[in-house]
Amino acid sequence: MEYNKIKNAENIINKSSYLIKDPYKYKNKWHDLFGNKNKIYLELGTGRGDMIINMAKKYPNINFVGLEINSSQLVMATERLGNEHLTNIKLINADAKDVDKIFGKEINTIYLTFSEPWPKKIDEKNRFTHESYLKLYDKIFKKDKHIILKTDNKKLFAYSLESLSQYWYVFDHISLDLHNDEENISNVMTDFEKQYYKEGRPIYYIDASFKN
Ligand SMILES: C[S@@+](CC[C@H](N)C(=O)[O-])C[C@H]1O[C@@H](n2cnc3c(N)ncnc32)[C@H](O)[C@@H]1O
Repeated sequence: MEYNKIKNAENIINKSSYLIKDPYKYKNKWHDLFGNKNKIYLELGTGRGDMIINMAKKYPNINFVGLEINSSQLVMATERLGNEHLTNIKLINADAKDVDKIFGKEINTIYLTFSEPWPKKIDEKNRFTHESYLKLYDKIFKKDKHIILKTDNKKLFAYSLESLSQYWYVFDHISLDLHNDEENISNVMTDFEKQYYKEGRPIYYIDASFKN
């Protein structure tokens, strides 16, 4: 997917106290960085950060980290955070492939929200629910594994169900239409989700875990 490029995006985001400039040096030290032992939830491909910022406001006793590869996308997230005084959220400008270099066994929940579907078979390994990613997540989950996935892409949804179940995850909840689900699932919308919701498109949802 192509995103608008913002001039000097890296300089802009680097001025934000919410951006952790050298995240690699905090491996195994994220609780120290947050200054508490609260759970840490990580969103991969956080984009403009709407969901993670609103979750940080809603759940002050949980720590949130938004990881995003595209600095231009993070400009909006840092601007949104500009007037906030939240101590439970950090942003990282990095590739999700590096999660195990950035975190030790510190993460409680991983959010995969409207991730790139990578529809071609040749690109399968880039899907955030490919086995190679699931193996990376094993290295950063604290104890039990917990993944929440939201997507508008039926094929990515189906692929993820298969990949997660082959990797022994169990499904605590699956929805083919999150916003019209009989069960009242607690949900904070992402930027992409708001757009799709407005267009009336169904949102596919997976809540999967593996208890160790
Ligand atoms: C479709 S957008 C969704 C953004 C946001 N989660 C939302 O729902 O509004 C996908 C995001 O994933 C980011 N992304 C893609 N590959 C990535 C990677 N390997 N590491 C980190 N972020 C990545 C993109 O730059 C983009 O911001």
